[in-house]
This record gives sequence, structure tokens and C-alpha cells, in this order.
Amino acid sequence: MTLVHRVLYPRPIISLEDHVARGGGKGLKAARRMEPAAIIERVLESGLRGRGGAGFPTGRKWQTVVENRTPESAPTVIVNAAEGEPGTFKDRTILRRNPYLVLEGALIAARTVGADLIVFAMKRSFAGEVDRMRAAIEEAEDAGWSEGVRMLVFEGPDEYLYGEESALLETIDGRWPFPRVVPTFRRGLLSGTSVEDPPAPAVVNNTETLANVARIVARGAAWFRTYGTPESPGTMVCTVTGSTRRHGVGEVRMGTPLREVIDAIGGGPRRGRTVKAVLSGVAVGVIPAEKLDTPVSYEGLAAIGSGLGSGAFIVFDDSDDMASVAAGVARFLAVESCGQCSPCKLDGINLAQRLAKLSGSEARQHDFEVIQKRLTTVADRSRCFLATQQQNVVTSILENFPEEMAAHLSGERPASEPALIAELLDIRGEVAYLDERHLLKQPDWSYNKNDSGTVPVEYYANSVPHWGVG
Ligand SMILES: Cc1cc2nc3c(=O)[nH]c(=O)nc-3n(C[C@H](O)[C@H](O)[C@H](O)COP(=O)(O)O)c2cc1C
Ligand code: SF4
Repeated sequence: MTLVHRVLYPRPIISLEDHVARGGGKGLKAARRMEPAAIIERVLESGLRGRGGAGFPTGRKWQTVVENRTPESAPTVIVNAAEGEPGTFKDRTILRRNPYLVLEGALIAARTVGADLIVFAMKRSFAGEVDRMRAAIEEAEDAGWSEGVRMLVFEGPDEYLYGEESALLETIDGRWPFPRVVPTFRRGLLSGTSVEDPPAPAVVNNTETLANVARIVARGAAWFRTYGTPESPGTMVCTVTGSTRRHGVGEVRMGTPLREVIDAIGGGPRRGRTVKAVLSGVAVGVIPAEKLDTPVSYEGLAAIGSGLGSGAFIVFDDSDDMASVAAGVARFLAVESCGQCSPCKLDGINLAQRLAKLSGSEARQHDFEVIQKRLTTVADRSRCFLATQQQNVVTSILENFPEEMAAHLSGERPASEPALIAELLDIRGEVAYLDERHLLKQPDWSYNKNDSGTVPVEYYANSVPHWGVG
């Protein structure tokens, strides 16, 4: 059986009582009997790594926050449920099935680092999940689970950068989602603290990461490691979309071959088609068809120049045009860039425009040379990872599919529009719905008819956003 059920329940858990009836609550109970250092030790031994993209060891992150605590103010736990990576729908699926599991993990994290506040950072547009989380918080408080830890749902904007951890903190603090220089373990939320106070750190963890915590604490590290590989223990909740028979979300053991994941969740390629390539979100190198038997694990996918990211596998078949995919990725990332680092925004826009010309079979050799040059500069002096994502994905597509690029350059290949690469709105009836509004989004982040020609960080410099807390 390829699909397993550790954090992704086969059917929705409807109440806290239902969660407890299925073994829920044991992690929190066990954590209350343990010293925080022992909880960190157990999470470290389990080898749990962050499921939000970077795969950072969770125990180490918690340890660092403990070391950076200040006597003046307590740290905060932020549950990253922004889920903005194109091709990802796993966090919302986990929350739809069992928000109590995530909440239990967050309470354990809070107890471990000594936090007095948990913020569930969601998007205003995730209305159903927001309601479900609020109801779960109320039930947990009524049942005495919170023990003085305040829990809030924050309804953030749809911007991709909102999911980047330091931008997430900026947004909760009432500003725009522009990444910070200072890491979140050094400086967490500033709201509620005074200027004289040294800033308290924040733990920012992905939803799926926290969904793993309760069972690790209750059942132990050895149990967690019965699935997965030594470097990637446990499971991964993967999303499969694109040119497959169906779209969906499923949980697999780390180390399962990618082809098996695509078959089990997506039903394999569509009738009469073959897989040409797979994107693992829009952060790492493309996976060509010859590498489809690579194990889905941090080390397995990194070894072929790609990465696990958030387990978002976007599949392309032999009818898809890779120049159009490159143009679509470049457009998404260039639009979403905030402009604090000029190369990221300006080279990104330049890349998107020239790649659109290439997929439209209108590019000249000079355009192609500029594309190659800009790929070497786009990530210069970048504050966050978005610029490197642009470099990674586009470079890898150009390198893996040189004949397709040459055929567009010579005009041999028919013109195609940039592919729609955007955040997922939903997966319903085995069909993924992408946010088509992204096609209208301007590089200044407005939906105006014309772009202002300036970058978001300047465009919004003097305006105060209105995000919702409650
Ligand atoms: C541009 C960008 C967007 C991101 N979006 C998300 C997101 O939507 N959800 C998420 O969990 N992490 C996202 N991340 C990763 C977070 O910055 C951070 O690494 C993560 O929340 C850490 O949690 P983890 O250690 O549990 O994985 C994003 C990173 C970047 C650079
Ligand atoms: S790298 Fe790009 S997205 Fe990140 S802070 Fe700089 S300009 Fe903004």
C-alpha cells in the first residue's frame, strides 16, 4: 500500500472528542509530564524535519529558540498555514481532516519553548479552514487544553511572500509581507512589546510539521522512524496536480519512488500520454522523466539537483511545452517578488518577459543570451530564497530541455502562452483549481489595468494594510 495515514486522516475528525476517541491528546498529556529539554531530545531523536520547504530539523529550531529567549517577554509559536507554494494543497487538507492534531502539536511546541501565544497564520481566503480552526481552538480551550496559552487565528493576505517566515511575522505585526533581515529565532513578533524590550524569538513551523509532533511525543522517536529513511524519517503529505488523470493529496512513506507517488495520488499520466517532467513546487530544479524512480525524500531529490520542498508535484506530459512552463514560473516569481532586492525584481521581470517571447516563438538569439545572463544575476544580494528559486527552476528547465528551447528560438515550434503557475484555490472532485486571477496581477501587486512601474516595497511604503486577527 503506497498511501498511509499518520497525519492525513482518511475521513474528517469532527470534534475534539472524536480526536480523543482516536488516540488524540496523548501527546499533550505525555508532554505535560516531561521536562521541555526531554521533549526537545525526543523530537531531535525522531529526526523530524520541517515540512514547509527547507527541511530544517524541528528539534534544533526549538532548541535555538530556547537559547535565544529573553527574560522580558515569552516567545511565540507561529503555525505556518499560509500554503502559497504553487501545486501545494496538503496543509489545507490536513486542517480539513483534523485541525486538532495541528493544535495539539502547537501546544506541545508552546510548552517546550515557554511560549504564551500561538498564532495560526492562515489566509483570509481560506474561509472554511479558518472557521474550522477557530472552532477547534474554542473546543480546546473549553476542554482545558490551553493552560493559559493564548491562541489566535490570523487571516493574512494571498501574497506568496506571506508564507516566508519573516514576512509572516511582519504581516502579523500589521505591515506588508516583505521579508526581514533578522531571523525569526532572533526577533519574533514586535507588536505587544515595547521598544526597550529586547525582542523575543518566535518558532515558525509548518502545519504538517506540527501535525507530526503529538505522535512523536506520545509514541517515541523509534516509532516515528519505522517509516521513512534515516535522513528523512516519517511520511510526507504530497499533492499531485498537472497532467495526470486526477489531482489529489495523499500521505506516503518518505523514500517512496516519485513514480509510485504520482500513480497512487494522481492515477499516473493521462491516457496515451507519458510524463515528461515534474516540478517540485517552484523552488528547486525540474525533475526530468528519466529520474522518476528517485525516492521522495530530502536526500533523494537533492541528489538529482531537485528537492522535496513541500511535496508539491506538478506533472507535465509529452504534450506540455517546457518553454511555456519556464515562462509561467518566471512570471509567477517575478510578480510575487517584493522588490527589496533589485536583481530579484528587475532581472525577474526581464526573465519573465523574454521567456514569454521565447515560448511565443518570437525571441531572437540576443533574448536568449540575456536570459542566460540574467539567470546569473537574479539572485545577487537576495534577502530571501525567492530569487534563488527563480534561478534554480528556470536554469534547470533550460538545461534539461535545450532542444525545446532551440526549436522555439528557430521558430520551428508553434507559439505557446506562458503556463499558468499559481497558487491552488481548491482540489474538488479530483480536479485542482488554480488561482487564475494571478494572470491579472501586476508586478506592483495591484490588479490595476496598468502597472505603476514601481516595486511593491515602494508602492505600499506609505500605506497601512488591514489584516484580520481574532
Ligand atoms: C517565498 C517563500 C514562501 C514560503 N511559503 C511558505 C508557505 O506558504 N508555508 C510554509 O509552511 N512555509 C513557507 N515557506 C517556508 C517558511 O519560510 C519556513 O521555512 C517554514 O515555515 C518553516 O517551517 P518548518 O521548519 O516547519 O518547515 C516559504 C518560504 C519562502 C522563501
Ligand atoms: S529576494 Fe526577492 S522576494 Fe526576497 S526580499 Fe529580496 S526582492 Fe523580496
